[in-house]
Amino acid sequence: MTQDELKQAVAKAAVDYIAPKLERSSIVGVGTGSTANFFIDYLAQYKDDFGGAVASSEATAERLKKHGIQVYDLNSISEMEFYVDGADETNEHLELIKGGGGALTREKIVAAVAKTFICIADESKQVGILGDFPLPVEVIPMARSHVGREIVKLGGDPVYRDGVTTDNGNIIIDIHHLDISRPVQVEEQLNNIVGVVTNGLFARRPADLLLLGTSEGVKTISR
Ligand code: A5P
Repeated sequence: MTQDELKQAVAKAAVDYIAPKLERSSIVGVGTGSTANFFIDYLAQYKDDFGGAVASSEATAERLKKHGIQVYDLNSISEMEFYVDGADETNEHLELIKGGGGALTREKIVAAVAKTFICIADESKQVGILGDFPLPVEVIPMARSHVGREIVKLGGDPVYRDGVTTDNGNIIIDIHHLDISRPVQVEEQLNNIVGVVTNGLFARRPADLLLLGTSEGVKTISR
């Protein structure tokens, strides 16, 4: 199977998992990226059976609306059962690196609100230790150089993602060669640097369920 076919398989599996549990009032949190896009396309067939969605990016909001799915501001939502999103890397504890698409901050906010975070990923995303994929960090523009120097002190190589502005008007620094053998600690250290909005480690709030697309089928892995 191609990588796209694996992504489609996990996206469909996520819809099959949540659809029977959705009520007319349910709000679904929706992630960003190519796997999340497949999820949106499958979810659309149930659009009359649930209340609507909260989007983790402008691009996702756009795609949801195109399908006729109502998009809500997170501040108008009191409860969210599910958040479904892809990842750039996952370890066996369902700790993730996200933000390859630059939407990490909104993704982390929506994940924080959801009762159940379902990660959908093809098997290429599963790793032993996180960090081969450069770790994205969203940074207030005026703090770029300061944050870069602090990242060097932590042992990482910061690379400014040229030409990218996030939905929040900030920049992205990708950290290469960082030791992420202790993800919770690294997530906290980076978030403590003044000027960092947040980083793409989802370790303090990992996924609750991983639907992993493999050549033998979709594997369901829970924490
Ligand atoms: C978006 O900012 C990311 O967190 C995505 O969830 C991640 O990059 C996975 O993207 P794909 O589904 O396109 O691989």
